[in-house]
Amino acid sequence: MEDFQDFLQNLDFKFFEHGVTGYRTPLGGHVYTASDDPPEVTMEPHNECSYSPFFPKKLVMFCLKEPDPSCGGETVLLKSQDLTALLDPEVIQKFEAKKIRYQAFLPNKNTGAGLQKSWQDRFWMDDPKEVETILESNGWSFSWDKGKNLRFWYLNSPVIEHPVTGEKIWFNQITSYNASYFRALPLYENTGDSIEDDQFPFHCYYGDGSHIEPEVLQHIREVMWSCAVGFRWRTFDVAVLDNQQVLHGRMGWTGDRKLVTSLIDE
Ligand SMILES: [Fe+2]
Repeated sequence: MEDFQDFLQNLDFKFFEHGVTGYRTPLGGHVYTASDDPPEVTMEPHNECSYSPFFPKKLVMFCLKEPDPSCGGETVLLKSQDLTALLDPEVIQKFEAKKIRYQAFLPNKNTGAGLQKSWQDRFWMDDPKEVETILESNGWSFSWDKGKNLRFWYLNSPVIEHPVTGEKIWFNQITSYNASYFRALPLYENTGDSIEDDQFPFHCYYGDGSHIEPEVLQHIREVMWSCAVGFRWRTFDVAVLDNQQVLHGRMGWTGDRKLVTSLIDE
């Protein structure tokens, strides 16, 4: 672990720290757990933080303990260019015209709606005004419902122009920042229809607030998984991903596996 921290310090990278805490555990030296989700969770491929105007340009991953043979735990990788080329152009055009509304939900600690962290615990503060100041400074819109539960959202493009290649590429989290993803997680296994889409931690819509058709989500998922490969880790492997050209996800696993990560601003 110390070797990896030394290695990173010597690469002359600027580290990305935007909103990293809360979802990963800091381990020192700009290194974090890769994810704190339980091992049984298979994660949908995504470009890191592509819902936000602030996202890391690179991801460095380091394997401290490889998974046991035949126990899963592969990192799923796919090229954004492949995905862009295979997606239905009409789907891309519709999202480009309407944009994506990424909406987060944080329940009030005192009413306990939902299974996720409350806004008080997420922001480490109890004063809604202070939370509003943070959201406004990051360009998010927000609303409070009757139970003082918080929803905040941001409109973003589904594509970016790669700074080096100039290509227009699909860069978003439509399927992973989506209630349909959360509904399939073990945590929500027996909740059925008792939780509305906008009560999951994250959900997205077209920019005008209309629902994304289930068949569109299905199409995106089908194409993503059809061009994905599984990277099988060996202990002490290091992988560096260009976050603007490569999507990553992971297969769930059993047994022991330890992966850490560092997010690079540039
Ligand atoms: Fe990720």
